[in-house]
Amino acid sequence: MRAITYDRYGASDVLRIVEIAEPVPRSGELKVRVRAASLNPVDVKIRAGHTRLVPMFERPPRGTGVDFAGEVVGTGGGEVAGYFPGARVFGSLSPFGRAGSFAEYVCVTPDRIALTPSSLGDGEAAALPIAGGTAVQALDDHAHLVHGQRVLVNGATGGVGHFAVQYARHVGAHVTAVCGPANVAFARDLGADAVLDYTHEDFTAGTAIFDVIFDATGHVRWRRCRNVLAPGGVYINTSPDAASVLATIAEAAAARLTGRQRVVGLVLKGGAEAWRRLARLAESGALRPHIRATIGLGDVAEAGRQMETGHGRGKVVVDPSR
Ligand SMILES: NC(=O)c1ccc[n+]([C@@H]2O[C@H](COP(=O)([O-])OP(=O)(O)OC[C@H]3O[C@@H](n4cnc5c(N)ncnc54)[C@H](OP(=O)(O)O)[C@@H]3O)[C@@H](O)[C@H]2O)c1
Repeated sequence: MRAITYDRYGASDVLRIVEIAEPVPRSGELKVRVRAASLNPVDVKIRAGHTRLVPMFERPPRGTGVDFAGEVVGTGGGEVAGYFPGARVFGSLSPFGRAGSFAEYVCVTPDRIALTPSSLGDGEAAALPIAGGTAVQALDDHAHLVHGQRVLVNGATGGVGHFAVQYARHVGAHVTAVCGPANVAFARDLGADAVLDYTHEDFTAGTAIFDVIFDATGHVRWRRCRNVLAPGGVYINTSPDAASVLATIAEAAAARLTGRQRVVGLVLKGGAEAWRRLARLAESGALRPHIRATIGLGDVAEAGRQMETGHGRGKVVVDPSR
C-alpha cells in the first residue's frame, strides 16, 4: 500500500511516500481502508521532534497522521462486536505508535473508532476527531458551558477553534471569536456574535467579561486573561507545548489559591465514546467541519509547512488514493 513515512525527525522534507506491506490486524483489531485522513498540529510536532524526549512516542522510522475515516475491510479473526465488513467508521490512531493514517490501510481496536453517520462524507468524518474532540471536551467536559454564558474562543477559525465556535453556538452561549484579519468573515459565518481581529484588538485589555475563555492557540496565559474572566470563570488552553503545560500547572495552582477561577491545560481523552458524541453533533448539524482543502499524499509535506505557520483555517483532508 502507499503511505507516508519518515525515518528521522526534521522539517517537512523528511516525509517520503513509500510502498509498504498492508498492516495485518491482530486479534481484536479491525482493518480499515482509509478513504480520508486529516492533518493536525500534533502530526507536525511529532515529525519535527518536539516529542522526542517523551518516551511514550515511538521514534522514527514511523508513519504520520492520526485522524482517519473509511470502511472496515476485515478483522484479526472472529467478530469484533458492533462492526462488520463494509461498516463506515472514523476515529484516530494513537499518536504514540508507529502507524500513521496517511496510508491506504490502518488497523485499530474498536475503542478508537465510531460509526460514521450516513449524512457525513468520509472527509468530514476524518476532520472531526482530534479538533472536534478537543473543542467539545474543552467547552462541555471542562467548562460545562450552558445557554446564555459568555465564551471567548482565541484562535477561533483553526481546526479546534472553528468547532469550538460552532459548539458554543449550539448550546446557546454568546460567542466572541478572536482571529486574524483574513478570517474575520469566516468567524462571522461560523455564527460568532462578536469577532475581534487580534492584530487590532487585545481582548485582555477590553471591558467585556467572559464566563469561559478557551485559548485554542495557547498564545495567551491565564494571568493576562484573569481581569476579563468572571470571578467563577474557567480558562482553558490546549497545552500546545511543554513550556505551556508547566506554566499552566503553576497558574492552576495560583488560581486555586487566589480566587474561584479555574485554569485547565487540556489533554484530549478521545476514544469511541468521544467520537460517538461528535458523530451525534455532526449528524444534527451542530458541528459542520470546514474543509479548506482535500489533498493527495504528495501535498502533505507542503500542508505541514503551512500548518507550522500557525495560521490554518478549518481542516485539511488527505485522500490517500491520490
Ligand atoms: N492538548 C491536546 O490534546 C490538543 C488537541 C488538539 C490540538 N491541540 C493544540 O491546539 C493548537 C491549535 O490546534 P488547531 O488544530 O486549531 O491548529 P490550526 O488549525 O493550525 O489553527 C491555529 C489557529 O491559531 C490562530 N492564531 C495564530 N496566531 C494567533 C494569535 N496571535 N492570536 C489568536 N489566534 C491566533 C490562527 O488564526 P489566524 O490564521 O487567523 O491567525 C489559526 O486559526 C495546536 O497547538 C495543537 O497542537 C492540543
